Amino acid sequence: MSSLIRTTGKEARPNPRADPRWVAARFDRIARSYGLFERLFMVPGQCRKRAVERLGIREGHRILDVGIGHGPQLLAISTPAGDQGRVVGVDLSTGMLDRARDRIREHDLWNVELRHMNILDHHPIEPYDAVLLSFALSSFGEPARVLDHVWRCIRPGGRLVVLDAQIPPTLKWITRPLMPAIRWFLERTVLGDPDMRPLEHLADLGGHMEVEWFRGRTYFVACIGKLR
Ligand SMILES: C[S@@+](CC[C@H](N)C(=O)[O-])C[C@H]1O[C@@H](n2cnc3c(N)ncnc32)[C@H](O)[C@@H]1O
Repeated sequence: MSSLIRTTGKEARPNPRADPRWVAARFDRIARSYGLFERLFMVPGQCRKRAVERLGIREGHRILDVGIGHGPQLLAISTPAGDQGRVVGVDLSTGMLDRARDRIREHDLWNVELRHMNILDHHPIEPYDAVLLSFALSSFGEPARVLDHVWRCIRPGGRLVVLDAQIPPTLKWITRPLMPAIRWFLERTVLGDPDMRPLEHLADLGGHMEVEWFRGRTYFVACIGKLR
C-alpha cells in the first residue's frame, strides 16, 4: 500500500488519506457543513446533472455510488432505476451517510441501500450496470487501487462515471506558489488531492473514455465504457 504522496518535484511525504479512520473522522466532522464547500468551490450544478446522464440508467439497472457522502445525486439516480433497480451507496463516514439517509427518507427512495464500509471491502455478488464516483476519487488514499477494484465490479458493457476537479492547466503558473496553502486547506477540509492526475489513472483502465469539461478545464465528467 502506498502511503506517500509526491508533490511536484519535492520529496515524498506521508499521505493522510491512506488511513480510512482518519478519512472517516474528517468527513464525520464536516458532514453538516459540506454544502458550504460546494458553494466555496463553485461546483456547477450542471456537471452533477451530466454525470448522472452519463450513467445511462435504465429501469432495472444496478448502480453503485462510491463515496456517496450526503447523496447529492440520489434522487436523480434512484428514479430512473425504478422498482426493479437497485442503488447501492458506499461510504466510510457515518456522518455523511446520516445525511444521505435523511434524503432517502425525504424522497421515499426505497430502492436505495447504504453501506458503511471501505469500498475496497465491497465485493458484490452481481456486477453493476454503472458505477459513479462523484468528488470521491481525489479523497482516496489509493485512487488507482480503488479504480481497479470498482472496474472489476462493472459488467461488460457497463459504465464508470467520474466527476471530479483539477487545477486548470492555464492557471498552474498562478497557483504554483500557492500550492502549499492549497494542499493545507484541502487536507483540512474535503481532502481533494491537487497533485493527483485523475485522468491518467482513468486512462489506465483501458476502456473507451469520453471527457467533458466545465468552468474551463476545472471540473470534468469522464465516462469510461467497459468493452464487452
Ligand atoms: C468529497 S466526498 C464526496 C461526496 C459526494 N459523492 C459528492 O458528490 O459530493 C468523498 C466521500 O468519499 C468517502 N470515502 C473516502 N474514502 C472512502 C473509501 N475508501 N471507501 C468508501 N468511502 C470513502 C468519504 O467518507 C466522503 O464521504
